Amino acid sequence: MKVTVVGSGNVGATVANVLATKGFASEVVLIDIKEGLSEGKAMDIMQTAHMLNFDTTVTGVTNDYAATAGSQVVVVTSGIPRKPGMTREQLIGTNAKIVKSVVDQILEHSPEAILIIVSNPMDAMTYLTLKDTKLPRNRIIGQGGMLDSSRFRYYLALALKEAGYPATPTDIDGMVVGGHADKTMVPLVSLATYRGIPVTQLLSDEAIQKAVEATKVGGATCTKLLGTSAWYAPGAAAAALVEAIALDAKKLIPCCVYLDGEYGEKDLCIGVPVILGKNGIEKIVEVEFSEAEKAKFAESVAAAREVNSKLGEALA
Ligand code: LAC
Repeated sequence: MKVTVVGSGNVGATVANVLATKGFASEVVLIDIKEGLSEGKAMDIMQTAHMLNFDTTVTGVTNDYAATAGSQVVVVTSGIPRKPGMTREQLIGTNAKIVKSVVDQILEHSPEAILIIVSNPMDAMTYLTLKDTKLPRNRIIGQGGMLDSSRFRYYLALALKEAGYPATPTDIDGMVVGGHADKTMVPLVSLATYRGIPVTQLLSDEAIQKAVEATKVGGATCTKLLGTSAWYAPGAAAAALVEAIALDAKKLIPCCVYLDGEYGEKDLCIGVPVILGKNGIEKIVEVEFSEAEKAKFAESVAAAREVNSKLGEALA
């Protein structure tokens, strides 16, 4: 399988690196407009092949979309990242133009590709891609829920540790739905478990709230520390989506997807649980949220619609 990663910045290069080490893709192409960046990152990754024992061929090209031809899955990370203090939504003007042009060029050479959108504000960029390409919704997937859920598991594990349980993130099951946005993403506390035990049985309301709030600003906290946005977790999250598609794994993962009546919403891309397999989104899974979570999801929907309304001319 051939995978293209557009954008060879921190996130894109991490996606390529994780894909290479996982080994299921025969070929990964990194592409960027910055002269030499993709070539350099690809070379650096390939020089780990012997040590990390992988056979994936990673190549890098500068703006040469012909080299991406025949990709089955394409991860779009292009655009500017946020700086400390910025919201993802503030990137909309710049990134909408970039994402639109990238997607058009990709589809010229890989008309059958499944697209994974990572660029921020991700929910709006996913919606823009869907409207712009008019592709069936199973082929346009926004990455946000996988990352936010992984952060939720991390913070719940820390809370459990503090409460005297020796938890690590892999002991936790939990999901974040709604938009990939600091204020309005929805960590589903009611469905979070520690090896099958609802976390609500082991943690105080206060400890749970602390984990929820830390999850919501998980990206912003990294941005503040790093001076730019995070890349290890966002990159690993996008690679996990590629893996579920490439291996036809039929994994349940929260992803940003176009809703057409599911969860009572239409004409919107937002994070909900889906099954990912070789066709991309194979099924949207509708689960029962608590009353409080339903209200929060509705707020998240309203916020995502508000951001979409700013797409303006990009949509035209
Ligand atoms: C984050 C950015 C990449 O959440 O959206 O880290």
